[in-house]
Amino acid sequence: MTDNLFKALVVEETDDKKYTRQILNKTIDDLPPGDVVVEVHYSSLNYKDALSASGNKGVTRSYPHTPGIDAAGVVVESTDSAFKPGDEVIVTSYDLGMNTAGGFGQYIRVPGQWVVPLPKGLTLREAMCYGTAGFTAALSVFQLIVHGGILPEHGEVLVSGATGGVGGIAVAILSKLGYTVVAVNGLVDELKYLKEIGAQQIISIEEATDQSGRPLLKSRWAGSIDTVGGEILATSIKSVNANGVVTTCGNVASPELPINVFPFILRGVSLVGIDSQNCPMPNRLKTWEKLAGEWKIPMMETVVEEITLADLDQAIDRMLHGKHKGRAIVNMKA
Ligand SMILES: NC(=O)c1ccc[n+]([C@@H]2O[C@H](COP(=O)([O-])OP(=O)(O)OC[C@H]3O[C@@H](n4cnc5c(N)ncnc54)[C@H](OP(=O)(O)O)[C@@H]3O)[C@@H](O)[C@H]2O)c1
Repeated sequence: MTDNLFKALVVEETDDKKYTRQILNKTIDDLPPGDVVVEVHYSSLNYKDALSASGNKGVTRSYPHTPGIDAAGVVVESTDSAFKPGDEVIVTSYDLGMNTAGGFGQYIRVPGQWVVPLPKGLTLREAMCYGTAGFTAALSVFQLIVHGGILPEHGEVLVSGATGGVGGIAVAILSKLGYTVVAVNGLVDELKYLKEIGAQQIISIEEATDQSGRPLLKSRWAGSIDTVGGEILATSIKSVNANGVVTTCGNVASPELPINVFPFILRGVSLVGIDSQNCPMPNRLKTWEKLAGEWKIPMMETVVEEITLADLDQAIDRMLHGKHKGRAIVNMKA
């Protein structure tokens, strides 16, 4: 920051409803009110950011706006006694980057209740290698294990959107915990990458999508972590074992769920919704501890590409066109 100026990616709406993205100078006074000012060292790119950066009013109501639902950095000012200058912190979820200026700016100002102290075992960079995607993957794995009691010996676990952020980290965590993971891979053909992060088998979108329309299919999976919705989610619910668990967090393929009640009432299948944004703080802290410790994935660098603010424009387009792989973290000080 020079003379109170910092850089931020700003999305603007033109008169003919197009959305432009440019890097502009901002000041701390431009930021919304809040208790804690954080100098952002790293941010990361999530699907929601790509939506916000392209004018999706379901995510961001009004423009100009700085997206970025993830930030990790150092506190420079705080009126909340829980934090002091110099503290390393993570800010994700709540309204960050949606209708509150987000992590694609070099500074953010947020309510103290949004701020998580950086857990021991993680650097700021590593925290953003996970970001909301990793946090959501961990919540999904947690539901499979804790809600569902699914153990590695119960059979294979299916993960969709596996080259993406949430899916890829879910594959890596499950594999680290000893599960046999089958990845659905469709848009980007990345068999080598998926094997590297821990998938033991890879199936195509066609194989993961039922064409028969039958209400129940042959039991195949102990559990499933779905990030795409639509037919793939419906098919996994119809083919999970009795008392299996399916988690749902995303809708990149479709928000629809073409299914009837039979998997639930004849096989006792559970469908568990994952909402990282409103995850209560005690669970949030526990989940970050898991990511920093027992569940820390060994091949972080395989999953991650580091980019700068200047690279974001193109990375957002790649993500919108389903051509993105793994996690893109943004070095905000580069
Ligand atoms: N509920 C929550 O709290 C929460 C939190 C974070 C993210 N999400 C949601 O989770 C989803 C995934 O997020 P992300 O950050 O992982 O996104 P991402 O990095 O863009 O990954 C999405 C992956 O889905 C697959 N895919 C894309 N379009 C598809 C289609 N039409 N049909 C089938 N597969 C398709 C692709 O993987 P393959 O090429 O391997 O098939 C792609 O890499 C998004 O909908 C996001 O909004 C929800």
